Amino acid sequence: MLPNVARRSVVRGVGGYLPPKCITNADLATNLDTTDEWIVERTGMKQRHVLADGQNTSDLAAEAAKLALADAGFDVQTIDLIVVATVTPDHPFPATAARVQAKIGASKAFAFDVNAVCSGFIYALSVADQYLKTGMAKRVLVIGADAMSKIVDWNDRATAVLFGDGAGALVLEAVDESHVDYERGIHSTHLFSDGCHYDLLYVNTDLATAAQPGHVHMQGREIFKSAIKLIGEAVETVLSSNNITIADIDWFVPHQANLRIIEGISVHFKIPMEKMVVTVDRHSNTSAATIPLALWEAARDGRIQKNHQVVLEAMGGGLTWASALVKW
Ligand code: ACO
Repeated sequence: MLPNVARRSVVRGVGGYLPPKCITNADLATNLDTTDEWIVERTGMKQRHVLADGQNTSDLAAEAAKLALADAGFDVQTIDLIVVATVTPDHPFPATAARVQAKIGASKAFAFDVNAVCSGFIYALSVADQYLKTGMAKRVLVIGADAMSKIVDWNDRATAVLFGDGAGALVLEAVDESHVDYERGIHSTHLFSDGCHYDLLYVNTDLATAAQPGHVHMQGREIFKSAIKLIGEAVETVLSSNNITIADIDWFVPHQANLRIIEGISVHFKIPMEKMVVTVDRHSNTSAATIPLALWEAARDGRIQKNHQVVLEAMGGGLTWASALVKW
């Protein structure tokens, strides 16, 4: 269906969920050759939440989705699309989104997953935005959910300390240009990838041989070097596309891979750290969930308010990187 009217995707609700089980740096140091000082100094991380026995990614996603729907005040039967960004699906197939659909009873929706690793939430947001703008959907649940604890090697200090589990969700609704909220919502999304850097960050599960479950492998220093450059490109693009400057932005919600990367972006763009929403100290890197969890936290505590301009940015495996401008 071609759009015959201009539409915008407006945020109507936000939710988040962290599993109750929490692992501190000191807990990790009892099994790994690491220290709280090393982890805090290199990453800013102090703790991470992980799945309890019997929990899976779809459980995290469903809890976040229910809270987002309650925040929007929408009946679940009015949701016509569910997009889940994840790299840790419950199973290789069906999509985790289908399981979430069943768990929350969204029987009128169609549902699928998006995999763009740590950029996954912005990719999913962009996909949802296209459906809403074209009139193919009216109300969409966009969820970022990952249970990285399933795929890290808990004996590898170089990766085990970096990740956590969680989920965050937004409810989006299409409004047309005559609507009072038309100036709010998603103003732009910008997606990038470069598969030549596939090997910098990957999970070595080989479904062809299925020898054994794989784990996260990362060339951390190389990823770190790329991060400021690529995130910088994504931020510059979102600013220039919307003809705005840093001063016009109320909040920056970066992907939470490492506090040093967030501080590097802050210095590079002269963004005061007070404008950065930071959760990495408490959540660690929850991959596709970091951005919606940070939005949930900052909206709940009153930092992000109606009509605030919010820039999202991320970079992750693929490599992928992305940005978006959302007027809350
Ligand atoms: N505790 C103690 N020492 C450690 C640990 C640990 N947990 N991990 C590594 N070390 C050691 C290394 O063995 C190395 O020792 P050596 O000098 O004797 O060889 C030393 O610390 C330095 O290791 P580096 O890897 O060079 O440390 P660096 O300062 O680069 O920090 C880190 C590592 C935190 C991983 C950093 O490179 C980083 O954050 N990279 C980016 C990660 C990222 O952005 N990921 C985003 C995408 S995630 C996604 O898409 C799913």
